[in-house]
Amino acid sequence: MNRDLPAALPVLLTARLRLRPVRETDRASHFRLHADADTARFLYNEPLTLDTQEAHFAARSTTRFPGDTEWGSLVIETRDDERFLGEMAFHLASITHSQVEVGYVLTHEARGHGYATEATTALIAFAFDVVGAHRVSGRLDARNERSARVLERVGMKREAHLRENEFVKGEWTDEVVYGVLEREWRERLAHGH
Ligand SMILES: CC(C)(COP(=O)(O)OP(=O)(O)OC[C@H]1O[C@@H](n2cnc3c(N)ncnc32)[C@H](O)[C@@H]1OP(=O)(O)O)[C@@H](O)C(=O)NCCC(=O)NCCS
Repeated sequence: MNRDLPAALPVLLTARLRLRPVRETDRASHFRLHADADTARFLYNEPLTLDTQEAHFAARSTTRFPGDTEWGSLVIETRDDERFLGEMAFHLASITHSQVEVGYVLTHEARGHGYATEATTALIAFAFDVVGAHRVSGRLDARNERSARVLERVGMKREAHLRENEFVKGEWTDEVVYGVLEREWRERLAHGH
């Protein structure tokens, strides 16, 4: 891991997207995104309610670089008209072992256009190029096939299927782990993927 981490998660640009820190003006979009029961189905948190939404948003609006016990967030928006598409999540899973974990949530309207794939590719590149990660991973509920497809498209390998290792929302769930090593990422880039 690089000794000089950035002071905050940066703005990242892709062909179609801007990934940027959460702003006060994202509040309404954020609530709408996370209050949706279908969207929250395979996430740890319950859909937001009037009672829980404020704390959830506050945790995402911090501007400093996330420490190793917390997740940082970046809003995904369209580059041309700043349309809110969802959020990327970034986690320094281990500073000692140079491990980074990523996650994503899109609004219903934003799905099916490759936005999660494009945003995840940018965040992985940031993790390897700037943060100095050795491996970047993603973990998901084994039933979350759309999420698994995102991680496969960005070049991650399915590393593990953990049987009923978590008790989430009243049921035992299987967790699947995907990962990509820095050398694999560089090889993929060298081959133009
Ligand atoms: C997981 C989630 C982000 C995946 O969204 P998604 O839209 O399927 O993923 P992408 O944005 O990468 O889009 C890929 C889809 O767009 C299609 N697509 C269209 N244009 C594309 C383009 N230019 N580039 C790539 N894919 C494109 C792909 O074919 C693919 O569809 P398919 O999987 O049916 O083949 C979304 O389902 C979601 O937000 N779920 C709720 C939250 C959640 O579960 N998050 C993950 C927790 S682990």
